[in-house]
Amino acid sequence: MLPSLPDGYRAIVFGASGGIGGAVVSALEKDPRCAGVTGLSRGDGFDLEDEASIAAAAGRLDGREFELLFDATGALVIDGRGPEKALRALDPAVMARQFAVNAIGPALILKHFVPLLPRGRRALFATLSARVGSIGDNHLGGWISYRAAKAALNQIVRTAAVEVARTRPDAVLAALHPGTVATRLSDPFAGSRDRLTPDASAAALLAVLDGLAAERSGCFLAYDGRPIEW
Ligand SMILES: NC(=O)c1ccc[n+]([C@@H]2O[C@H](COP(=O)([O-])OP(=O)(O)OC[C@H]3O[C@@H](n4cnc5c(N)ncnc54)[C@H](OP(=O)(O)O)[C@@H]3O)[C@@H](O)[C@H]2O)c1
Repeated sequence: MLPSLPDGYRAIVFGASGGIGGAVVSALEKDPRCAGVTGLSRGDGFDLEDEASIAAAAGRLDGREFELLFDATGALVIDGRGPEKALRALDPAVMARQFAVNAIGPALILKHFVPLLPRGRRALFATLSARVGSIGDNHLGGWISYRAAKAALNQIVRTAAVEVARTRPDAVLAALHPGTVATRLSDPFAGSRDRLTPDASAAALLAVLDGLAAERSGCFLAYDGRPIEW
């Protein structure tokens, strides 16, 4: 797995308690070339809505280097409030929480954890976006807060990639759509749709990330490796 990284690579998975995050942790733990996986979750006090908890988690790992940072956090329903079907359902407080979890949280992960990426050699950062965050591919409408927060996340990744390339030209940052995956996030909306298993999604996402050259840093791709329109 991840042949583009050196033997003995180390990884951090954010949102390790989630469906896809848990599957990424399991896949990495089975890889004999991976020297260690650190999983961070709300249960351990790592909360995207509390910057001090993010800074503290990074501080505990300071002095070590991690070739892979995989952010599998995110939410569609927050405190029982699901995605809006129409403009009249917009609630500014709910919208702010969507941005806090799906856009600002991953930005804070970048702020505090990019310093833990090695310099002068390859390193990978992925965050889980969503195809519905595509502006150009939006023909259905609805889910305005989640969509807008994921669109903001894509811009955050793109902007961060430009900056990170100045100090770490071998690093790759990517916003990835995991597919429709059978997790608690998609359970209430799945209906009769086919869904990927978390293990299948995790394997595909890691393979896509591994295959990206540094020149592709800042891209928005699906689990099948195909680019998604911004
Ligand atoms: N499943 C799909 O079909 C699908 C499709 C497109 C995109 N995605 C994206 O993929 C990502 C992972 O989704 P999933 O399906 O694996 O969902 P999931 O099983 O609900 O996992 C979400 C993860 O995010 C964590 N999280 C939520 N709010 C947090 C906060 N404030 N601070 C820290 N961690 C927080 C959760 O922690 P707790 O365990 O503490 O709640 C959990 O670890 C999300 O960004 C989602 O938008 C999923």
